[in-house]
Amino acid sequence: MQESKWIPLFPDQASTFAWQVDGLYFYLILISLVFTVGIVAGVVYFVVRYRETDKFATPPEIHGSVPLELVWSFIPFVISMTIFLGGAIVYYNQFRIPKDTTEIYVVGKQWMWKFQHGTGQREINELHIPVGRKIELTMTTEDVLHDLFVPAFRTKADVIPGRYTHIWFEATTPGKYHMFCAEYCGLNHSGMGGWVYVMEQRDFDNWLSGNVSGQTPVEAGKDLFENKLGCASCHAGGPQQRGAKLEGVFGTDVKLVGGQTVKADDEYIRNSILNPPGQVVEGFQPIMPTFKGQVTEEQLNSLVAYIKSLSGPAATSGASTSTPAANTNAQKTQSTPAKGGK
Ligand code: CUA
Repeated sequence: MQESKWIPLFPDQASTFAWQVDGLYFYLILISLVFTVGIVAGVVYFVVRYRETDKFATPPEIHGSVPLELVWSFIPFVISMTIFLGGAIVYYNQFRIPKDTTEIYVVGKQWMWKFQHGTGQREINELHIPVGRKIELTMTTEDVLHDLFVPAFRTKADVIPGRYTHIWFEATTPGKYHMFCAEYCGLNHSGMGGWVYVMEQRDFDNWLSGNVSGQTPVEAGKDLFENKLGCASCHAGGPQQRGAKLEGVFGTDVKLVGGQTVKADDEYIRNSILNPPGQVVEGFQPIMPTFKGQVTEEQLNSLVAYIKSLSGPAATSGASTSTPAANTNAQKTQSTPAKGGK
């Protein structure tokens, strides 16, 4: 663990927006300090200056002051607007996911974090990422609420059963950084953490190729789709197929029975697998059975990745970043022993 450079109370700043979060935080501290010191000094001054010297003295009456009222309206207005704008800008930078990210799947589980890279490598309680690249985490959980927190990146987000949350970051400094679960989730909540390893691109490529990658999420999803779950029997088969066409559907607007339109994102695909009658595509019968209870969160991630891949490389953000070395490894081994804890 690297030591903090300037204020030991704060964790390292290791992401592109860490300084913005800290800047906003210091600004709030500064405002609090100025007012605290000013108010305490004022109290002390008035106590001394206007102490009782004359029994039954009557002060002069004051009937308002326009300049004074303008000043005490304008200054708080400026202060609150700068806080609002600063907060909005930092929030926008953090929670609007950029286009060119490398996607990593995250599944929380009592009490561990499971990661899977687009090239197939799996990790538990450890996450290796390259420096200077935009990483997107698509996160969900197998059981209860968790919350992924990397203090050095100044980012955290709840991980919620039954849906996906997304965060992104770009690490700026190679190193080893703490990762926590920040939502009380049961007995071993405090032990549900690990390390993020930020590596130079070359070291990261070495790490990737040195790790058994198993099937990539897309390959695993294809296998489920075509063989294990038999989705292909309805969703692939030319003009007379019974299920909606999935090629090219990701990212488009889909018309549903009943007239609504829904955006085909990963949430939509997930819901369509788990609760098909909830979103029947216009022109189709509600005949698809639910796959709830038959697929794990990791299998769902793979199915989503595969259906995304049917819409071309533009839809799969991670596609451009896979390393050839890792891909050749992918074919060799099918079993995927996850790398153990700490
Ligand atoms: Cu998981 Cu706390």
